[in-house]
Amino acid sequence: MKVSVIGAAGGIGQALALLLKNNLPAGTDLALYDIAPVTPGVAADLSHIPTNVSIKGFSGEDPTPALEGADVVLISAGVARKPGMDRSDLFNINAGIVKSLAEKIAKVCPTACIGIITNPVNTTVAIAADVLKKEGVYDKRKLFGVTTLDLIRSEAFVAELKGKDPLTMDVPVIGGHSGVTILPLLSQVEGVEFSHEEVVALTDRIQNAGTEVVEAKAGGGSATLSMGQAACRFGISLVKALQGESNVVECAYVEGNGKHARFFAQPVLLGKDGVEQILDYGPLSEFEKSALDGMLETLVGDIKIGEEFVK
Ligand SMILES: NC(=O)c1ccc[n+]([C@@H]2O[C@H](COP(=O)([O-])OP(=O)(O)OC[C@H]3O[C@@H](n4cnc5c(N)ncnc54)[C@H](O)[C@@H]3O)[C@@H](O)[C@H]2O)c1
Repeated sequence: MKVSVIGAAGGIGQALALLLKNNLPAGTDLALYDIAPVTPGVAADLSHIPTNVSIKGFSGEDPTPALEGADVVLISAGVARKPGMDRSDLFNINAGIVKSLAEKIAKVCPTACIGIITNPVNTTVAIAADVLKKEGVYDKRKLFGVTTLDLIRSEAFVAELKGKDPLTMDVPVIGGHSGVTILPLLSQVEGVEFSHEEVVALTDRIQNAGTEVVEAKAGGGSATLSMGQAACRFGISLVKALQGESNVVECAYVEGNGKHARFFAQPVLLGKDGVEQILDYGPLSEFEKSALDGMLETLVGDIKIGEEFVK
């Protein structure tokens, strides 16, 4: 297996590369790419960690050497939020970056699974999908918006509120990856009861957790370390499933059956070719049903912006 991290010199990219170097299955090749000239140095630095994961770093204008032979490509290239910005403010720069990377992937490693971290995820995934489609290589089983940060935040916050072991928490999160489109299914958390007030407050906190970090970093960027951890969890799940491990389930933002929107974050069973099956997200509470109805106009609008951009 070869895993490529694109945007690898950034805050997320470096944390992700460190975690992958330590946690990918033995024998995996890890390739780092970023336009920043420091990237081969980041790889040299990580290569001194004694694990059975080989690592190479590339910089410059052309990501081809990092993409050649890749099975999984994780993309965090782009700009991050500063205080006062929401994810859609990143669109102008990040849309072009994701478009040109998707064009490269279509040529160099068209069968790779792609995990998009670059915001606004609701839109950048639609951009990547339509670029790949234009190039004739789109396989909807292999394109993912990485929403795992919403899951790990939910696990941490529920455990904190209820005094539970965070390692045993499992909170499905559906919808998209910004504001009201993030919908944690708190009604499905086993062994925990919430009052209505708790559900309202916790849902709001999970939806705005990114802003909590942006403001606390006071201009120094957005979530990088927790996002590195989240992307590592997702990347490793994907690698394990591609290698034939069974019952690997993650929530991710994928093109499914279109019931709510063309792209929707939901639990998916991962397999040897990416998404093996879109899983039912189960029964929703009245609060969750109305939150789902309330998000759809925003989510569909975000997707349309990406589709129009590629057109
Ligand atoms: N999906 C999520 O849950 C989530 C969470 C947090 C942040 N993000 C997003 O992830 C992205 C990266 O965040 P960060 O904090 O690592 O930012 P960062 O600025 O620290 O790093 C971004 C890196 O991308 C590189 N880059 C820019 N253009 C590139 C290109 N064309 N090819 C390769 N590399 C390129 C930059 O040189 C930089 O090193 C942002 O868009 C941010 O909004 C997503």
